[in-house]
Order: sequence, then C-alpha cells, then structure tokens
Amino acid sequence: MSIWSKKSIPQLLSEADESEKGLKRTLSSRALVALGIGAIIGAGLFSLTGIAAAEHAGPAVTLSFVLAAVGCGFAGLCYAEFASMIPVAGSAYTYSYATMGEFMAWIIGWDLVLEYALGAATVGVSWSGYFNKFLHQFGLEFPVYLSKSYADGGFINLPAIVIVCLLSLLLMRGMRESAQLNNFLVVIKVAVVLIFITLGWKFINPENHVPFIPENTGVYGQFGISGIAAGAALVFFAFIGFDAVSTAAQEAKNPQKGMPIGILGSLAICTVLYVLFSYVMTGLVPYTVFKGDASPAATAFKVTGYEFLQTGLIVAILAGYTSVILVMLMGQSRVFYSMSNDGLLPKFFSEIHPKFRTPWKTNIFFMFFVSIFAGFVPVTDLGHMVSIGTLLAFVLVCLGVLVMRKKMPEIPRSFKTPLVPFVPIAGIVVCFYLMYSLPLESWIRLFVWMIIGISLYFIYGKKNSKLNNS
Ligand code: ALA
Repeated sequence: MSIWSKKSIPQLLSEADESEKGLKRTLSSRALVALGIGAIIGAGLFSLTGIAAAEHAGPAVTLSFVLAAVGCGFAGLCYAEFASMIPVAGSAYTYSYATMGEFMAWIIGWDLVLEYALGAATVGVSWSGYFNKFLHQFGLEFPVYLSKSYADGGFINLPAIVIVCLLSLLLMRGMRESAQLNNFLVVIKVAVVLIFITLGWKFINPENHVPFIPENTGVYGQFGISGIAAGAALVFFAFIGFDAVSTAAQEAKNPQKGMPIGILGSLAICTVLYVLFSYVMTGLVPYTVFKGDASPAATAFKVTGYEFLQTGLIVAILAGYTSVILVMLMGQSRVFYSMSNDGLLPKFFSEIHPKFRTPWKTNIFFMFFVSIFAGFVPVTDLGHMVSIGTLLAFVLVCLGVLVMRKKMPEIPRSFKTPLVPFVPIAGIVVCFYLMYSLPLESWIRLFVWMIIGISLYFIYGKKNSKLNNS
C-alpha cells in the first residue's frame, strides 16, 4: 500500500462507533462551548494584548483581534464541517487521513504536538509567572532558580511542572471530572473579563484612543496598517484552542450538532469579548505604558481605583490559564490516541484505563513530555512554535474541505462551510499570511520538527500502519 492511502469515511465512523470499550460520551453542546472557551481565553488575552498594543498596533490592537478572528473564523467554519462529518477523536489528523492520505495525516498529527503539547507548556510557564505574582501579594515568593528556566535566569520552572502534572492526573481520572473543573474555571474567567469590561468602560479616556492607528515608524510591523497585521500574528495565539473542541468529538453526546456549536460558538463569544476587552484596556491608559509589562491587564485596571479587585483578577487569570492547559493536554492525548489506534504509534498510546475510560498512558507520557518543556524552555520560544504549528494545521484543514467537497460531495454533513471555495481559500491565505509574519527561527524549528516526524513515520508508522497492512 502507498503512503497516500486514505481511510474511507464509513470506515472511520464505524471505528468510532464500534468501541464499547472506547471513550465515554458525556459532553453536551454547552459543555463543548465551555471546552472551547476553556482552551481559548488565556495567556493570549491577558499577556499578549499589551505587547501587541505597545510594539505593533497601539489602540488598533482591537483591529488586530478582528483580523486574527477573521482568519480563525474561516478555519473554524472548515473545522466545523469536518467535525460534524467525521466526529472522531483525532481532529485535523483524522480529517487529513480521509482526504489527503496517511502521510499527510501523520504530518498533521505530528504537527499538532506543537499546538497542544507545547501550547500547554507555554501557558504553564505563564501560569507560573502569575502564580508568583499571587504569592507576592502575601509577601511570599518562589526563589528565581526554582521558578524560571535556565535561559530566563533560573534553573527549573517548578510551578509550571506542578500544574502540568496535576492536570494530567486529573485527565487520567476522567473526562467528566475534567469537564466539570473546566466549566467552573470558565465561569470564573469569563466573569472577570466581563467585570473588566463593564467596570473599565466608565474609565475610558477617549484621548488614549487618539490616534487610533498610530503612524508607521518606517519599519514594517511597527504601527500603521502593517502594525495591525503584525499585532494580529501575535494575538492569534489568543484564539488557539477552539479547534481542541473537535478532539473531543468521540466524547460528545451528539457530535453532529454539538461540534459546530462548540467550535463556532466558543470562537464567536471569545471574539466579542476580546474586541471589547482590548478596546477598554487601551482606553484606560496610553498604550505605551504596556511596553515590557507582563501583566498589562492588571496595570490598566489600576486606573479604575478598584485595587481590591487586583488579587481577584490574578486568581481569575490563573483559573483561565489552568483551563487552557487542561484542554490542551486533553486534545494532545486524543490525537495520539487516534494515531495509535491506526497503528502509526505504539499501542501504548491508545490503551484505555479499564475503570476511568481515558487514554491514561498517553496522559502519563505527555505529563513528562510537557513538563520538560514547561520546566526548561523560555516562553517566547515556545509561543512562536505553537502559533506556527497551529497555523499549519488550519491551512491543511481548509485544504481538506476543498478536497472533500470535490471528491466526496455525497457524504452527509450536518454542517456545511458556507461560500465554498471562497471561505477555505481565504482561510489558507490569511493563515499563510500570519505564518509569514512569524520570525524565521520558528520556520527553522518547524522544519526540524517535521524532519524528525517524517523519519519516525518511515521507521515505525509506515510499517505498522493498520491501513497499510490490512
Ligand atoms: N488561546 C490560548 C491562550 O491564549 C492558547 O492562552
């Protein structure tokens, strides 16, 4: 069999259905929207908005959010079609298996490690920063050598490792328990975003919004229109995660309906919140004060005089980051679960716990893998890898919808991407443009990661693939 062999849709669906012993269907549409918001609102909003405003877009960071949302919206519509058509745990990996063949599926599954596993590590590092800030309120502090990686002037980031381990253990315990914690955390973080917007709105100083689009400095990406685009590439990180909903397709009660609602609903809610949040934030103080500030939301909020809410804000931000890490770890384990089910990875990754019905060995594996990155790698290096990996996945999913519409128009889809081919093509163009705006090192790292992945495919995956050996 060739490396381009494809899985048929009926085959995929029957595989998902057949497993009495498989994953448990516990998630309602509402839980899926919460899952999406759980993965979306986090470090991107609370930390990167300030950097994007100070260094790239000024008050027009609001427009950067709109631009990033447009790109994600196109990709989200394509994800929704796939997820309603092929509601199987592997998300983009599985879609590629059906549309572009095994090799491309492997590439995307491997690429998703950058999004999910490194995404969890990135937010784990930011979590640790805010945790220290929280302790600081009570006169306590973690020593630097135990709370920062070597490259950041410490030795090991212990709080980041601890949070990753705790959440991995919870995921092992069960999806329902994890979803319950997620729902709780989502309520807290959405509440704090709403409080920030409503209390902050009254304190907006219109002068801080003038000029709304500061003049370009002569350098591409420093303010002006190109600054809005560069800001969008940065705050794109804030939207990452809506696609993680699709990895829970096999655990959704009614995936045909729940998947599009989960993906598009969470994306729409977060877009509205982001636009309002960034508008208020840049209205409270001049955008220049955010330069080099790791907690810009807290800085801006001081203007309101509600200082007593500062600690609450930090706690809510910690809650927000916790749910992002949780959903990213969940997504990662589900992708490897699917790849292992297909024989492309050792059986170890798809073994289900007899009682908890979770892919617990994968959870343990990624507990260690993600901990290493969270403990020893600085946050900016991780963040860029996550963005480039995710954008590549989005491009391939948009491409997949085009292929699928042409080759298998008859397969029932409970959700159809509107305006095909415009939407998928626009998704590809916008995502490529955002990839292009990322630093060269991220491209090099992506390339190296892919070379490792391709080698593994030919050493192990191709020989053991169930499809190739059937
Ligand atoms: N969207 C997630 C965040 O901003 C990854 O933390």
